[in-house]
Amino acid sequence: MLQQQTEIEALFDAAGRLAADALQSNQDRTHPVVHRVSPEELIRCLELELPTEGRGLESVLDLARKTLHYSVRTGHPRFMNQLFGGFDAAAILGEWICALTNTSMYTFEAAPVGTVVELALIERLNRFVGFENGEGVFAPGGSVSNLISVLAARHRAFPHVKDEGLRPSDRPVMFTSAEAHYSLQRAGMIAGLGRNGTVCVPVDEVGRMIPGELERCILEERRKGRTPFFVAATAGTTVPGAFDPIDEIANVAERHGLWMHIDGSYGGSVLLSRQHRHLMRGCERADSIAWNPHKMMGVPLSSSATLMRTKGSLVSTMGMNADYLFHEESDANWDLGDRTLQCGRRVDALKLWFSWQVLGDRGFEARVDGLFDQASRMRELVREREGFRLIREQEGANVCFRYLPRAHRSAAGEERDRHEHEATLRIRGKLAEEGSFLVNYASLDGAATFRLVASNPDTTEEDQTALLDAIEAED
Ligand SMILES: Cc1ncc(COP(=O)(O)O)c(C=O)c1O
Repeated sequence: MLQQQTEIEALFDAAGRLAADALQSNQDRTHPVVHRVSPEELIRCLELELPTEGRGLESVLDLARKTLHYSVRTGHPRFMNQLFGGFDAAAILGEWICALTNTSMYTFEAAPVGTVVELALIERLNRFVGFENGEGVFAPGGSVSNLISVLAARHRAFPHVKDEGLRPSDRPVMFTSAEAHYSLQRAGMIAGLGRNGTVCVPVDEVGRMIPGELERCILEERRKGRTPFFVAATAGTTVPGAFDPIDEIANVAERHGLWMHIDGSYGGSVLLSRQHRHLMRGCERADSIAWNPHKMMGVPLSSSATLMRTKGSLVSTMGMNADYLFHEESDANWDLGDRTLQCGRRVDALKLWFSWQVLGDRGFEARVDGLFDQASRMRELVREREGFRLIREQEGANVCFRYLPRAHRSAAGEERDRHEHEATLRIRGKLAEEGSFLVNYASLDGAATFRLVASNPDTTEEDQTALLDAIEAED
């Protein structure tokens, strides 16, 4: 053995304390969300030169400390920047065991525990969706789950592509909303449609796809001689957090024989909430769903389920039957490797399994409801403050707002938008530089807009008020 047992024990004892301290210090508001330094300074601080002679096991503890020091504390209650946040100690342990067992999900033989755990989780998630005869697989993220779904849809509509590739007469076209995640258009590009093979359907004032417009776009594409085969509704759009009307979109998809996918990467977790699951009414009618426990459910990245309504869809799309890997004998019918794009695949299921044991359905429900409540409270705070305004009606855990500096309070229309735009960029950048808050911005309705995500159950009203105070203070 290269390393002595005592050395390993000492390392992991120290690592355990380091991890506990790091998680504990997330609660400490005197710690910044990030110690922001320039890339050049960071390269210097990390001493990236790789040694010719190894420095021994204990040298990595110092690296671990440095890594934690310069990393963004995504578990900090004032990190509101991304669709994920907070932390889950049980899931972190699951992630650690994943590295410790260091195996790959392609066969039951190589990953017996991972295989049965993943199948049990897929079954559980499918039950929340209402897929009675479903299947699924974990993927490295929502983008890959979306890609797998586009490929499955293409396989159903154009089965010859698997062997021959696309024929000039195929002319496939897919649809998603104008505010859908870019990974869908990229999935279309990878699937051989080109970027122009995705039609972006107009949205309403909330940011939801308009079903009548979807139908109009489908008919228009048919007239042009293209073949519509796929539509993706989004449950929880990236910027305003809007939920497309799934039931109505399913009606259109059914009428035109399209594969219907739901990109529930972000908002799929509302299915765990009795209060909010109505936002996905009709989801059991979809052919596939992307659902990321690594977003609203608080599981560390990556944890993304790709769910299919019909058993067999994945293997018929992806299967390559590599005989060096998938052997006929014994437990081969448990092998999951032909369901996905990857060969080697991490055991992502473990962390969600651990987390579910600790929280249960009710714990996840409380988490989702709490984040929605947090976002509603933030909207109230924004509404009540002079100089702030919400952009759009909002229904999810995102809060999109702008601030108009005092000197321009009489501005209106485009002039107001311009001042708000400039203030958003300037103030947001300042906060990120100081590391006091991380809150993102995006262009929404023509101007840069703060986009805050309620992603950490530990964020309090004081944190939210402190953010608005900090924005005002940078006026
Ligand atoms: C709606 C939506 N779909 C898909 C994705 C992509 O997910 P991932 O980052 O896990 O690939 C995102 C990411 O933010 C998203 O907001």
